[in-house]
Amino acid sequence: MSPNAKDRIFVALDTPDAATALSLATALVGHVGGVKLGKEFFVANGPDAVKKIAGIGMPLFLDLKFHDIPNTVAGAIRSALPLQPAILNVHASGGRAMMQAALDAVTAWSGPRPMLIAVTVLTSLSDDDLTATGVNDTAEAQVLRLARLTQAAGLDGVVCSPREIAPIRAALGPGFKLVVPGIRPEWAAVGDQKRIMTPRQAVDAGADILVIGRPITGSDDPVAAAKRIAEEFG
Ligand code: C5P
Repeated sequence: MSPNAKDRIFVALDTPDAATALSLATALVGHVGGVKLGKEFFVANGPDAVKKIAGIGMPLFLDLKFHDIPNTVAGAIRSALPLQPAILNVHASGGRAMMQAALDAVTAWSGPRPMLIAVTVLTSLSDDDLTATGVNDTAEAQVLRLARLTQAAGLDGVVCSPREIAPIRAALGPGFKLVVPGIRPEWAAVGDQKRIMTPRQAVDAGADILVIGRPITGSDDPVAAAKRIAEEFG
């Protein structure tokens, strides 16, 4: 197994319960590359609880998907930076000026520079949903359009679904970071995920970071599950 395989795994701690998140994160130190905390955790527990989890020494993906006017997003990024996230994100549909304002805030920060990535089209949206919002194009075309805009704004990469890895990689080149949820090892329950890939398929297709939640957090032995996943693609 490649020594860095596990570093590609960020475990999604999707819980409003700070104690559960902390004990899972503590157990997984050294077995995954980092943890992802999102709005469910953040709104319930606030920045101090995020700091506590980051404090155990795990790189943190702070998945707050900012989307607002550029000035407000830049302010939100500045408020998030003292939490020392390894990865921060915004919505690409907020536009180029908004993404650049976010990037300027990150660049001006004196601490370690986090990776700044964008969400393109939420995978919960169908082509019909997009049409209803005035986007007269397929979801795939809109994903590529927003990924290009993200790269043009100078951001590091995008969050994308497994089936988007190959087209984005082909269009945007090898340096653009692809952070990919919707990952299921063959032995794990699919749950509500639809367009899944195994960890190996996703890495082979060009994923940089795999965001994996329930196959690890819902396992009776999360450490064993994380090890098994890393062995599968390492
Ligand atoms: O438990 P599971 O492995 O499905 O968790 C995946 C994580 O990635 C969750 O935090 C989920 O919200 C997030 N995510 C996703 N699909 C997307 C974007 C984010 O599953 N398209």
